[in-house]
Amino acid sequence: MAKKKAAGRRTERLSREDLVLIGAARVARERAHAPWSRFKVGAAARFGDDIVHGCNVEFDVYGLTNCAERTAVFAAFANGAAKAPLTAIAVIADTPEPVSPCGACRQVMFECGGADLRVILANTRGDACVVRMADLLPGGFQLEAQIATPPVAARTGAGPAASRRRSKPAKRAAPGKDE
Ligand code: THU
Repeated sequence: MAKKKAAGRRTERLSREDLVLIGAARVARERAHAPWSRFKVGAAARFGDDIVHGCNVEFDVYGLTNCAERTAVFAAFANGAAKAPLTAIAVIADTPEPVSPCGACRQVMFECGGADLRVILANTRGDACVVRMADLLPGGFQLEAQIATPPVAARTGAGPAASRRRSKPAKRAAPGKDE
């Protein structure tokens, strides 16, 4: 598999685990339901020891479409895998260069895996590269960083980044009087 340099991004060497994840994303892509765009996308997310598949799913009401990356993350919450930290995610599509995730998926991946998340971008012709989440989405939105009083989910450990916080506690503002 050729290592392709993604434009303007720092790339890393592909590991054996990355190749396994790309293989899983390729399998997931075959399950894509894309009757409108005909553009099939597959994703595979590693939560702890689990690999969770995702594919894009399109509907007659186009706005209800779900991207492959978010399908994988949502499935991980639904099946319990998201109790473990998200450490890597692979995305694959039939593109000339390794596929570039959309902005909404970048935000979701950032919230679940943090700035250091390993993101493996691939295409069906065998090109792939590894980038860090912070390079894909600099300055991603973090509710805790924006407001003085942490949101309920952050305080109770129920938020999407909870597992990440458990392994690496984030600095939080002290709870305000008005909570
Ligand atoms: N799509 C993804 O699955 N992931 C992305 O990051 C970008 C776009 C899907 C959504 C839609 O089904 C199709 O690609 C064309 O936009």
